[in-house]
Amino acid sequence: MAALGRSRRSCLAVPGSSVKMLGKAQGLPADQVFLDLEDAVAPLAKPEARKNIVAALNEGDWAGKTRVVRVNDLTTPWTYTDVIAIVEGAGANLDAIMLPKVQSASHVEWLDLTLTQLEKSLGLPVGAIGIEAQIENAAGLVNVDAIAAASPRVETIIFGPADFMASINMKSLVVGSLIPGYPGDPYHYILMRILMAARMHDKQAIDGPYLQIKDVDGFTEVARRSAALGFDGKWVLHPGQLDAANEVYSPAQSDYDHAELILDAYDYYTSEQGGRLGAVMLGDEMIDEASRKMALVISAKGRAAAMTRTTSFTPPA
Ligand code: GLV
Ligand code: MG
Repeated sequence: MAALGRSRRSCLAVPGSSVKMLGKAQGLPADQVFLDLEDAVAPLAKPEARKNIVAALNEGDWAGKTRVVRVNDLTTPWTYTDVIAIVEGAGANLDAIMLPKVQSASHVEWLDLTLTQLEKSLGLPVGAIGIEAQIENAAGLVNVDAIAAASPRVETIIFGPADFMASINMKSLVVGSLIPGYPGDPYHYILMRILMAARMHDKQAIDGPYLQIKDVDGFTEVARRSAALGFDGKWVLHPGQLDAANEVYSPAQSDYDHAELILDAYDYYTSEQGGRLGAVMLGDEMIDEASRKMALVISAKGRAAAMTRTTSFTPPA
């Protein structure tokens, strides 16, 4: 799916209640913006926020950014009104709906069917609007495979650490920090579980927010952990976190160059002209089909982030 080739290194949260921030976000270097109707918007401000978001999507300049709206979760009275107002108002200018606190595949199925209804009645291509599913409690994590598989619209599985920590009674109020008294990384299992479900179903895996918005070093440290595991990007709550997110979730230039070289060398040596070989040498390194697969991942991330290579492959004379 083309949507999965979208770069989502940085996913900027923008409260739908703030016309000022909806304007400012358009000029910031985020891969994705999500215009929020959920926890960043007070209950009484939600109707106005829907209108602000529709206007911002239709009239704003979001070129180069994936445009997402986070609606309220399905235990609230607001979800269906959110979805209808946003898609009827700006469905042609929207890439995906983010559904928070997803607990079972049925939540995604409800949204999928509702979007299909809306797309048909509005004359939009059916399936054009994607779904981003936030995992924020034990039920969501236990059911994450089924959630990822619930609709071809699902593009990302997102870890929502703040709600998650509250829901499982984790003894910390600082998202991402290690917890005194526990010798390991308390998020490792959760991140890996989400990542496995995402990879099994070809979805992107996105890490959630880091709340200490002035502490960019802390943000970077936490981001590096999920990036090392294989996550595709992370939420950004403040413009000051953007550069760090874009850097941490991009391949290093040397890794990107190396990946492109492996792909070129492998293509050449497996071709008629290169001798139809399977395992070959690239300098001092042996490369084979598995190396090509690893290189494809890095290359796809680099290309999605518009990186340019600084080396080229020269076939032997
Ligand atoms: C995000 O929604 C979170 O709860 O961390
Ligand atoms: Mg949340």
